[in-house]
Amino acid sequence: MTSKRILILGGTSEAMALARALSARPEIDAVLSLAGRTGHPVLPPIAHRIGGFGGVEGLVAYLKDNAVSAIIDATHPFAAQMTRNAAQACETLGVPRLVFTRPAWQAGDGDHWINVADTEAAVDALGEAPRKVFLTVGRLSLPAFRRAPQHHYLMRSIDAPDLADRPPKLDLILARGPFDGAAERDLMKAHRVDVIVTKNSGGSATDAKLAAARDLGLPVIMIDRPIMPDSRIVYDLDNVMDFINTHRIAP
Ligand SMILES: NC(=O)c1ccc[n+]([C@@H]2O[C@H](COP(=O)([O-])OP(=O)(O)OC[C@H]3O[C@@H](n4cnc5c(N)ncnc54)[C@H](OP(=O)(O)O)[C@@H]3O)[C@@H](O)[C@H]2O)c1
Repeated sequence: MTSKRILILGGTSEAMALARALSARPEIDAVLSLAGRTGHPVLPPIAHRIGGFGGVEGLVAYLKDNAVSAIIDATHPFAAQMTRNAAQACETLGVPRLVFTRPAWQAGDGDHWINVADTEAAVDALGEAPRKVFLTVGRLSLPAFRRAPQHHYLMRSIDAPDLADRPPKLDLILARGPFDGAAERDLMKAHRVDVIVTKNSGGSATDAKLAAARDLGLPVIMIDRPIMPDSRIVYDLDNVMDFINTHRIAP
């Protein structure tokens, strides 16, 4: 029988949770793909590969060469290019595709969010007057803030940003979530933060900063999610396992 392989597009806790679940199902041949952005990625307990595919064409070739029978796209909600490429490659080959992600955060009572479409709009929303800005946008988005050098930034990221990407006034914290609510409040108070800029990543690992901002009465400039191709989307691991079972992807 031809082997059937699932390709998981990862870089998230959802992809890791799926990899852990599949490690207990040795009859399912699954490979987790990482972009290779972080220096010391957490590796999954199943087969993995690292690096881009080479656009849609490269991904189509990979899917054919490896007899991939389905893609579970568990990339980050802001990894729009990868999701678009996966949608196009799957459509070309008729390969089933499922998006496994987390719901977006929603503003509640007491939140003061300023919603913006992208990083450039977030820089504009900071305004002219110097502010102390807590940035949790990922180091690859940092260069955009160089055009607003009047602000003093506190940036938290997994890996250090390149020196050339940094605005002049920058304090750096290197850390990987999850983060705790009380610690987030203490951090913001200690650094006299007066505005937070973040992406609407969703999920519980990094939402403590939002509760802390609410408690401290601080505004949050929230970068909305990019537009994604039409997809079947699930938020629970059980639904992913159902998809794998009902599509007879497993032998
Ligand atoms: N964007 C974020 O805020 C964020 C946050 C946390 C984690 N991540 C993770 O970091 C990775 C990169 O994010 P991004 O925003 O730079 O992605 P992106 O802009 O959507 O993708 C850019 C290119 O990176 C490659 N790529 C992305 N994800 C890949 C994967 N899982 N496996 C192999 N290649 C991948 C692809 O290269 P080719 O065209 O050469 O195939 C893709 O075209 C993703 O895996 C994502 O899940 C992103």
